[in-house]
Amino acid sequence: MKRLIVFYSYTNNTRGIVDKIKNRYNYDTVEIKTKEEYSDDYDKVVASEEKLVPLDYQPDIEPLDIDFNQYDEIILCTPVWWYSVASPVNTFLHTYNLKGKTIIPIATNGGWLGRTFDNIANLTGANIKKSLSLQFDKGRLTNPYEFEDWLDHLEDDESKM
Ligand SMILES: Cc1cc2nc3c(=O)[nH]c(=O)nc-3n(C[C@H](O)[C@H](O)[C@H](O)COP(=O)(O)O)c2cc1C
Repeated sequence: MKRLIVFYSYTNNTRGIVDKIKNRYNYDTVEIKTKEEYSDDYDKVVASEEKLVPLDYQPDIEPLDIDFNQYDEIILCTPVWWYSVASPVNTFLHTYNLKGKTIIPIATNGGWLGRTFDNIANLTGANIKKSLSLQFDKGRLTNPYEFEDWLDHLEDDESKM
């Protein structure tokens, strides 16, 4: 069983989660990076993305030098942007063929998950399992124990569950 973490993070909540998963299980990890960096002005990004996300906006991203066939499962970690995946993750999902793959989606958010997991499933045609919504408040997980528990069981033998 080989797993790959693919993630995007704008204000580093998602990056912190990825670091914890990686520290524990040492999975290969790739970061989605936009060709043009987002502004440091958080409110400006929130306001412009409010218009762009409903238009299925796909900002240009750097190519990912990854052979997805090497991996059985992809742990996809994204912030929630306007009730869906962050726009750079939207580009990723449109660019790479993940049909029939298994995705474990993690969506960090402020409490409004919206259609995020359904959109990942519908866009990719992948099998979705162990999905995890993680709420943050001022850069901190609101329920860290939920995440620790999820992490503890990430490699449980599913045939015995
Ligand atoms: C453009 C933008 C849109 C957002 N939209 C939502 C949303 O619809 N629902 C929600 O719960 N949080 C929303 N948030 C908050 C983020 O999902 C949350 O802070 C997330 O953990 C940020 O991850 P990051 O630090 O890895 O970028 C939004 C943040 C940004 C920047």
